Amino acid sequence: MIIEVKVPATTANLGSGFDTLGIALSLHNFVYFSGSDNLQSDTLKHTRMLRDNNNLIYRSAARLFEVCGERLPFDLKIYQTCKIPVTRGLGSSSACIIAGLMGANRLLGLPLNDADILKLATEIEGHPDNVAPALFGGMVDSVYNDGEVYYVKHDVSLNLKFIVIVPNFKLSTNQSRLSLPSVVSHRDAVFNVSRSALFVSSIITEKFENLSVAVDDRLHQPYRLKSIDKADEIFNLAYEFGAYGVCLSGSGPSIIAICDKRNMSFFRKIRTELNRMHLGKWKVLSLDVDNEGASVDII
Ligand code: HSE
Repeated sequence: MIIEVKVPATTANLGSGFDTLGIALSLHNFVYFSGSDNLQSDTLKHTRMLRDNNNLIYRSAARLFEVCGERLPFDLKIYQTCKIPVTRGLGSSSACIIAGLMGANRLLGLPLNDADILKLATEIEGHPDNVAPALFGGMVDSVYNDGEVYYVKHDVSLNLKFIVIVPNFKLSTNQSRLSLPSVVSHRDAVFNVSRSALFVSSIITEKFENLSVAVDDRLHQPYRLKSIDKADEIFNLAYEFGAYGVCLSGSGPSIIAICDKRNMSFFRKIRTELNRMHLGKWKVLSLDVDNEGASVDII
């Protein structure tokens, strides 16, 4: 038996919703759990994961087994087909955590429900804004309070395109969080609270014209953008080319432009501008929302 877990990339924060908002995107990792070496086919471009505690998929799977009073089978092998860029702000760590937990849960006969899995995932990740949409799909607003996760999932309009501008350098979340201040002003807190509420209601009611205001942020982007060369220019160009809203994806370094799917020229224009700025090695991805979230199959 081979268990296949499919997990989407996610973009967290959406500017103002620091550590609380996230949207799942149409770019997926596939993780395979097998009790034998029967996955050596050349047709699947998978990589065998090292069985050690530094590997987030194994660590998460082992944690679920532990919570259920079991130990990971010694002959378990895990493989991955990895499409989500690593350390670029697209939820690659969360995808590993959700895959490890869902694969382990399936191996044990589904003892835990989705809420249990989200809670475990949030304990491992530290905040729920990537793991929640990776698990449920769509847009999820979530709060981690006294060890419990309170969340609501909303489907997101398929009329939106998420154009992700991916730099050719890494920025780890831990490193990126170190640049944040430990204290912010009351005025800045109000600035963000109002905008994150506006973001959620504008996505739900499809008032996309509000997004340029709703993504604005004073809690993290002003600090993080300093380490991304030409970010200001890219933000300005993205708005000039008609994006509804532009923000850092998660802790960066990727920048995400939320566009109307009828804005067909956006991708080409931003690609051309990146080349002009000598940023030809940066990737540009055109993604949709994934309203389904992670899934498990037996193959
Ligand atoms: N909310 C997180 C952060 C997302 O901004 O640090 C990245 O994990």
